[in-house]
Amino acid sequence: MQSNPAAQIVLPTGRTPEPVYRSFADRGGSLADATIMLLDEFGLPPRSHARCDNMLQRDLLDRLEEPPARLLTWNTAAEDLDAMCADMDVEAQRGIDLVILGIGGNGHLGINEPGTPSDAPSRVVELHAETAAATSRYGAETAPTWGVTLGLGPILRASAVWLLATGAHKAAIVRAALEGPIGSEVPASYVRRHENAIVFLDEAAASDL
Ligand code: PGA
Repeated sequence: MQSNPAAQIVLPTGRTPEPVYRSFADRGGSLADATIMLLDEFGLPPRSHARCDNMLQRDLLDRLEEPPARLLTWNTAAEDLDAMCADMDVEAQRGIDLVILGIGGNGHLGINEPGTPSDAPSRVVELHAETAAATSRYGAETAPTWGVTLGLGPILRASAVWLLATGAHKAAIVRAALEGPIGSEVPASYVRRHENAIVFLDEAAASDL
């Protein structure tokens, strides 16, 4: 990020990236010239603790001295959600330098749930039960049923992809993604087809490999 200060970077939220954001801010990291695009968003009210925009604010942006040059978030209150998602794909087409991703317990990337084809555009999605339930960890009072996500297509067209996973609870899905068949059953497996992908694992997440 420091070698290309004006990069366009897609960032996830959740438990996995939070320590990375903390350490980036603690080391005086800056995104002041960068365009930051949020990876996805839940269909939750604006003030919900579990919304991805609010998590990004708390976990990263509030810790930085300066805001990013541009911040692109998902307007889930838009009247035409399909058009809003298409606009995000237009932004993505300007060229994403780096996408940082977590991995869901079911292998999702963003909210590209199992069954998503690798060329899927950004769109409105129905949440799998596991994904909906996980939002209680982020402080959702009521679990969302839907969300919006950057599609696998624009994710996989980014110049670089970093996939992060931490904790023993991710070990089985990390193994499925990295050693199982590549396909839509485990969307995270598609990162193996990307020519510039890096997978960052702690020991616990790597323990089944
Ligand atoms: P987590 O979520 O970082 O909170 O485990 C990852 C994901 O669902 O993509």
